[in-house]
Amino acid sequence: MAHYRIEPTGRPLRGEVSVPGDKSVGHRSLIFASLAEGQSTIQGLSEGLDNVATAEIFRAMGVEIQRQGTTAQVAGVGLHGLRRPEAPLDCGNSGTGMRLLAGLLVGQKFGSRLVGDASLSSRPMARIIDPLRARGALISGTEQGGQPHRPPLNIAPLVDDEVLHGLQYDMPVASAQVKSALLLSGLYASGPTALREPVLSRDHTERMMLALGIPMETAGTMTVLDPEKITPWGGFEWTVPGDYSSAAFLLAAALVVPGSQVRVTGVGVNPTRTGFGDVLRALGAHIQQVPKGDQSGHEPVADLHVTATALRPAQVGGELLTRMIDEVPVFCAMAAHADGASEIRDAAELRVKESDRIAAMARVLRAFGVDCEEWEDGMRVRGAVQLKGAEVESLGDHRIAMSAAIVALCAEGTSIVHDTDCVRTSFPTFVPLMNQLGANIVEVHD
Ligand code: S3P
Repeated sequence: MAHYRIEPTGRPLRGEVSVPGDKSVGHRSLIFASLAEGQSTIQGLSEGLDNVATAEIFRAMGVEIQRQGTTAQVAGVGLHGLRRPEAPLDCGNSGTGMRLLAGLLVGQKFGSRLVGDASLSSRPMARIIDPLRARGALISGTEQGGQPHRPPLNIAPLVDDEVLHGLQYDMPVASAQVKSALLLSGLYASGPTALREPVLSRDHTERMMLALGIPMETAGTMTVLDPEKITPWGGFEWTVPGDYSSAAFLLAAALVVPGSQVRVTGVGVNPTRTGFGDVLRALGAHIQQVPKGDQSGHEPVADLHVTATALRPAQVGGELLTRMIDEVPVFCAMAAHADGASEIRDAAELRVKESDRIAAMARVLRAFGVDCEEWEDGMRVRGAVQLKGAEVESLGDHRIAMSAAIVALCAEGTSIVHDTDCVRTSFPTFVPLMNQLGANIVEVHD
C-alpha cells in the first residue's frame, strides 16, 4: 500500500500542464464505440483504472480493443453483437462503470454478473435496480453487511418474447449514472424512455447520443429517447477532453499556495460539470477560461488559468452542488484556507460515493487543526487557521487522498496521507504533475 509524504516548499507553484482524459467521457466513449458498427479511434483516453476496467469488460464480451498509451482502437460489434462473457465482469472501484454497464446488459439476450472491489460492493444499487425492473429488466443485487441491493449484480438474459418496456420515470435524485443506465437500457426497449431529474446532472450521454445521430429530445431536466427512431451508428474518431475533476486539484493547489500561477490546458468544460469554477469565483479567485472549441461528442474544451489570491468563504448547495458533485472534497480543502466559515448543503449523496466523503473530509480537516461541523447533508468549515502538518487516511477514496494532499501543501511541517493507491483509478499522474508545478510530494510504496 502506498502513501504520500508532503513537505511544504514555501515556493509558489508555476507552469502549464494537461491532465488525463475525462473519466466520465472515457467510459461512455468505450460503450458507444463498442456498440458502433465499425472501427472507432478514441484518443486521450485516461489510463486510470476505472476506464481500464470498462475496456476489459468489453473485451470479455468479444469487442477487440487495441490500446497504445492513451489511444484506443475499438472494433465495434453493433447494438446486438456483444457476446456472453465467460466470467463475472469486474468494474473495480468504478460506480459509473457498474451502473452504466448494468443498464446496457439488462437489454442483452445473455446473462451476466457485475462485481467490484470492497468499496464498490458497499455502494447502493437500488437506484438503478428499481427503475430497470420497472421496465422488465431481470436484475438483482446482493445483501452486503445487512444492506440489500448491493453489488455483485446478477442479470438474467431476456429470452423468447421478453422485452424491456417503455419507461416514464421521475428520478428522486439527480444522477448522471442512473440517467445514463436508463438511457442505455432504452436502446433495447420496445417503447420510449422519458426521464425527469430534479436538477440537470452531467449530460455526456445525451450529447454523445445526439452526436451519433441517436435522436433524443432534451428540454431542461427532461430527456426522452424513442427507440423506434434509432438507426445503427458507424465508427467514429473522438478525442476525450482533459478531466475537469482532475484539473480541479491543480487549480485548488495553485489557489492556496501564495504567489502561484498555473495553466491547465485542454480541459472539458461541459457546463453541467463546471460548478467548481463558479465557486472559485465566489471565493474571490482569479480564474480565466479560454475556450478551445468542441471535442468528442459535442464536449466543449478550454484552457484554465489561475492565479493565487486570498480566499473568501463561500456557500454551496442546490443546483450548483450537482454541477460540482465530485469537487466537494477539494472545495473543503480550499475552504480550510478561506478567511471565514464556508458551508456545504444538499450534499447527502456524498455519503455514498467511494467513501462517506462528508465524514472523511471532516476527519481530514480536523487532523490538520481545522474546525468543522458535520451535518447529515453537508458541513461548515472555518478556515484561515495556521494548519499543522498531519497524518491522515484516504479511506481508499482517490478524491479524499488528493484533497488531503492539497490541504497539506500549506500546513506547517510534514504530512502523510495513507492509502494512496486509489488515486490510480482516476488521476495516475497526480504526483508527477504536482511536482512538475513545484510541489514536494513523494509517493512511498510500503
Ligand atoms: C458520474 C456521475 C456522478 C459522479 C461520478 C461520475 C458519471 O455520480 O459523481 O463521479 O460519469 O455519470 P452520480 O450519478 O451518482 O451523481
